[in-house]
Amino acid sequence: MSEKPEVKTKRGELIAVCSAKGGIGRTVMAVNLAVALSKNNLQVCIVDGDFQFGDVCLAMDLHPTFTIKDVIESMDMLDQYSIQGFLMRHSSGLRVLGAPERPEYADLVSPATVDKILDLLLQSHDYVIVDTSAGLQASTLQVIEKADQVFTLTTLEMSSVKKTKTWLETMQLLGMDQKQQLVLNRSTMDSVIKASDVADLLDIETPAFIPNDFALVANSMNTGIPFTLNQAKTETAKAVFRMAEQMVSRREIALFKPKSPSFLHSLFGRAKNPTTT
Ligand SMILES: Nc1ncnc2c1ncn2[C@@H]1O[C@H](COP(=O)(O)OP(=O)(O)OP(=O)(O)O)[C@@H](O)[C@H]1O
Ligand SMILES: [Mg+2]
Repeated sequence: MSEKPEVKTKRGELIAVCSAKGGIGRTVMAVNLAVALSKNNLQVCIVDGDFQFGDVCLAMDLHPTFTIKDVIESMDMLDQYSIQGFLMRHSSGLRVLGAPERPEYADLVSPATVDKILDLLLQSHDYVIVDTSAGLQASTLQVIEKADQVFTLTTLEMSSVKKTKTWLETMQLLGMDQKQQLVLNRSTMDSVIKASDVADLLDIETPAFIPNDFALVANSMNTGIPFTLNQAKTETAKAVFRMAEQMVSRREIALFKPKSPSFLHSLFGRAKNPTTT
């Protein structure tokens, strides 16, 4: 008889969107990926983890009433229900936790508070996406350590590839290379480095490719309308939708995997069939 599948208790997936270098497309990626995921009828929350200069709200044309600073100030009485009151609701259905309005407030955000906030959000969302700050600051490392999957963005610029190589080596040293997925953003841009050379240069398996479309992305960022909402047929949006589909299928497989036999089951199973080694 086949073994019964086990449905694990719900805990959403934590996704970190990172890069070694700034200005590479983390916010564009995080916002559009979150919108693409929320179109699958999933509960998705995006957290602006660039605590000094985050612009997730700007990229979504949202005017925050509350930010992570307010969440931290109410930390003592916070639970998975009360934290919902601090989230903004975007027209796509996505929930958003914005960054503080001033850079000096970033100091209020400690690794311990980030940890607690993410735990609470993971209890009521299928995906929590964090748009981190560039580089390996303590708060970003904390999110990476906790994340189920880390999307590391690079482009075909020499400085970006060089920094990404060091980033990936560091991840390997920290034992966090398994959850890294490289995303080559602006993969069709003009460069002496070819998109097809990136896997070899960085010693990784195939990256995800997001095509270059400056007009589309600039317009999306300037109007605050994610292109996965209103420009879904463009190649850049399609590439983001493909990433979202792969994430959803991977999660479905993980949630519905066969139950491993219990100790008693193995013991009696073996006793019934003593010839089995
Ligand atoms: N796929 C793309 N095609 C064309 N241009 C892009 C693409 N992705 C990003 N860009 C350009 O890069 C700019 C920076 O993007 P974004 O703000 O997402 O980067 P970031 O890594 O979050 O930057 P920061 O370090 O300032 O937070 C965009 O405004 C846009 O002009
Ligand atoms: Mg950004």
